[in-house]
Amino acid sequence: MHFSLHQILLFPSFVSFCSNYPLLYLSHFMANSFTVLLVTLSLCSGERTVVTTFSSNFYQDFDITWGDGRAKILNNGELVTLSLDKASGSGFCSKNEYLFGKFDMQLKLVPGNSAGTITTYYLSSVGDTRDEIDFEFLGNLSGDPYIVHTNVYTQGKANREQQFYLWFDPTKDFHTYSILWNPQSIIFYVDGTPIREFKNLESKGVPFPKNQAMRIISTLWDGENWATRGGLVKTDWSQAPFTASFSNYNAQACVWSSSLGSSCSSNSSENQPWLTQIIDAEGEARIQWVQKNYMIYNYCNDIKRIQQGLPPECLQY
Ligand SMILES: *[C@@H]1O[C@H](CO)[C@@H](O)[C@H](O)[C@H]1NC(C)=O
Repeated sequence: MHFSLHQILLFPSFVSFCSNYPLLYLSHFMANSFTVLLVTLSLCSGERTVVTTFSSNFYQDFDITWGDGRAKILNNGELVTLSLDKASGSGFCSKNEYLFGKFDMQLKLVPGNSAGTITTYYLSSVGDTRDEIDFEFLGNLSGDPYIVHTNVYTQGKANREQQFYLWFDPTKDFHTYSILWNPQSIIFYVDGTPIREFKNLESKGVPFPKNQAMRIISTLWDGENWATRGGLVKTDWSQAPFTASFSNYNAQACVWSSSLGSSCSSNSSENQPWLTQIIDAEGEARIQWVQKNYMIYNYCNDIKRIQQGLPPECLQY
């Protein structure tokens, strides 16, 4: 049986939380009927199916989690703005937890003098041994380039930073930033161009995030102690409030729930190419182009790291 994947998502997930943020429970009744619906659909369809959101509605897919009114959902759920002033930043978080997926978000970053501000868009599980896949955008003085900071945490350990400049002004228009996360690979994209791949090299002893479900989280906060030129340029609070905008969230993803497990089954990969996608030769060439022209920091080339012995995933470069 085929059912509309869209319909499932009209039901909010019954437990909704972010790390360190308040829990939000729907009534017991809703929770039960949602569970029953999902179980019924699973049984009817004979196989569990990848849940896909086709078009974004921020009311439907996200909760505002932080910022006391500084985060706003606008235009009937098509747009979110986050703002930052001296008292607080703000943030939002997906209602769903995902175990693998391809996540696209359009961002328009803080314009003008954005020095000291950090806009984030990342996947994260909860706790000290959490997994995390990060995009962070480090602001700058007017006319100076933003830095796109990427990192991958596995079981609480990170130190895998790569940083890039962009080939456009990320404050003028919306641009699409994507994270592909499947059992083979993690790929970061900017406007469809892959900029980084973190392969599953468990066979070489490198841990890979694949057992902890993650939520999509976005925040805007003050990182003046390290963000701009390593902390030399501080936030100019006379420019506050700072604002970043988000739109067109799109997830093709396996939704995870503690009662039902993953919405994906192993044989669903045929119609879900993202589940097995890795970088091909053309993608590799594009990554090389980006890394040659726009990468400004790579932990694999860090002299201090090299002296301590490079992590195994770096040795193949
Ligand atoms: C800000 O501009 C300076 C000068 O061009 C540059 O060195 C730095 O990488 C830029 N970005 C950040 C986030 O510091």
